[in-house]
Amino acid sequence: MIRFSEVSKSYPGGHDALKRVSFEIDKGDFVFITGHSGAGKSTLLRLIALIERQSGGEIVVNGQSLNRIRRAHVPYYRRRIGFIFQDHRLLSDRSVFENVALPLTIAGLTPNETGRRVRAALDRVGLLSKEKDLPAQLSAGEQQRVGIARAVAHKPDILIADEPTGNLDAELSHDIMELFDLFNQVGVTVVIATHDLDLLRSFGHRSITLRAGQVEAEQERTE
Ligand SMILES: Nc1ncnc2c1ncn2[C@@H]1O[C@H](COP(=O)(O)OP(=O)(O)OP(=O)(O)O)[C@@H](O)[C@H]1O
Ligand SMILES: [Mg+2]
Repeated sequence: MIRFSEVSKSYPGGHDALKRVSFEIDKGDFVFITGHSGAGKSTLLRLIALIERQSGGEIVVNGQSLNRIRRAHVPYYRRRIGFIFQDHRLLSDRSVFENVALPLTIAGLTPNETGRRVRAALDRVGLLSKEKDLPAQLSAGEQQRVGIARAVAHKPDILIADEPTGNLDAELSHDIMELFDLFNQVGVTVVIATHDLDLLRSFGHRSITLRAGQVEAEQERTE
């Protein structure tokens, strides 16, 4: 489902963020990407989401080589992926409902279908009763759950999250991870970058550790 073969990434003027990275993630897997700050975790996720292009090697997602996806087709490719950021990036002047609805509206769904999907997504993250609130009226954990609802509303088959619990305390982090587990249990492939080793251990999923842009270790799932 996601295959990296000798993938490298160098940023203009910078050093190599990823160096000949190879791994495979199967459909339905739950994988943590970990490693020190600057190890290349965010870069790896951005390559999968086609926010950045790799400098060398090949990335295959759902049988499709990303090298061959043209710029005009990137939005179509991204519709199969849900991306969750550390800082949720909600629009502060739009309601919870509107934040989750926006990508669906842009994708051309009818208002009826959009409403149905937004409410289903908000229901799954436990926030249906807050659909009219503005993000500022929500707690940090609730805001992050809106970000998750937005990422899953178009029913992606891959969920990618970059430090989704970075701003949350241990208990809220655990709740958010359980939410990812629920999506994984219905078949969604989940890839999460985190430096939170406690969280990683308590969930026991497979992990890939990066060090200075290279795969340092791989740990199989422990439960
Ligand atoms: N847009 C950019 N331009 C130039 N260099 C970059 C850019 N983004 C990242 N880098 C460099 O690439 C390397 C990997 O960065 P990356 O953000 O992938 O690390 P990370 O593992 O996500 O770190 P953190 O845990 O701090 O989020 C770093 O050395 C960083 O300075
Ligand atoms: Mg990062």
